[in-house]
Amino acid sequence: MKIVEAIALEKKYDMGDITVNALQGVDFSVNGGEFVAIMGPSGSGKSTLLHILGGLDTPNQGTVSLAQNNLAKLQDQALTLCRRKNIGFVFQFFNLLPTLTAEENILLPLMIDGKDLRPYREWLDTLLAMVGLIDRRYHRPDQLSGGEQQRVALARALITKPSILLADEPTGNLDSKTGTVIMELMRRSCDELGQTIVMVTHDSRASAYADRVVFLKDGKVHSEKSFDRSNEFTDRLRTVIQMIEVLEL
Ligand SMILES: Nc1ncnc2c1ncn2[C@@H]1O[C@H](COP(=O)(O)OP(=O)(O)O)[C@@H](O)[C@H]1O
Ligand SMILES: [Mg+2]
Repeated sequence: MKIVEAIALEKKYDMGDITVNALQGVDFSVNGGEFVAIMGPSGSGKSTLLHILGGLDTPNQGTVSLAQNNLAKLQDQALTLCRRKNIGFVFQFFNLLPTLTAEENILLPLMIDGKDLRPYREWLDTLLAMVGLIDRRYHRPDQLSGGEQQRVALARALITKPSILLADEPTGNLDSKTGTVIMELMRRSCDELGQTIVMVTHDSRASAYADRVVFLKDGKVHSEKSFDRSNEFTDRLRTVIQMIEVLEL
């Protein structure tokens, strides 16, 4: 089943004299349980596409359906609710609230929704264990390393059990070893929780964790490559690097 389906997306930014064509006819869909990476050079439209898929921005042309909802048909409040119900976001800069503990940051999306937290206690503990932060749950962001903060951000994105996790350069602000930990966690959330994921990255290693890599160039889908379980990590990585070289991305 398709969780998100975007058809013929166009996005322009008017900057006075010049118009930036950020997306020029992009078709993109993701099946439930799939982990997709979007790669492409800086300025190729990756973040624009991710924001439109998540209803944070609107296209000039084209349609997005998210969990069977046509986003263009939703009014502001309905769109906000649809987003909260279906989307978890992870950003490059962890965006945690500095005055809250790790645990409170993770619970924040539920609190914003006015949910009763009690039924989520077990799920919170499952997520804290998965991201390895059981003994850091009462730490504030400034008492955590960058990698730990991103693990909190990942757990926060998963607490609502979103239909889809959207991640924009989740390893972009981490060293490679810490980035690997985040990617392994994202892979596990796909394999063990069935989490559907779309991740933007310019890191070939990060892309090699995905089931499918979509390459954007100049606001268009240039090509894509799918992997299956039999592909070893090093084979995937070699393939991604070759694609980048061939495509001069
Ligand atoms: N808010 C904006 N206003 C004007 N131009 C923008 C805005 N956001 C993105 N762009 C432009 O659209 C193009 C695609 O941007 P973006 O999606 O951020 O690319 P990427 O994430 O692949 O680096 C770039 O040329 C960028 O400068
Ligand atoms: Mg970007």
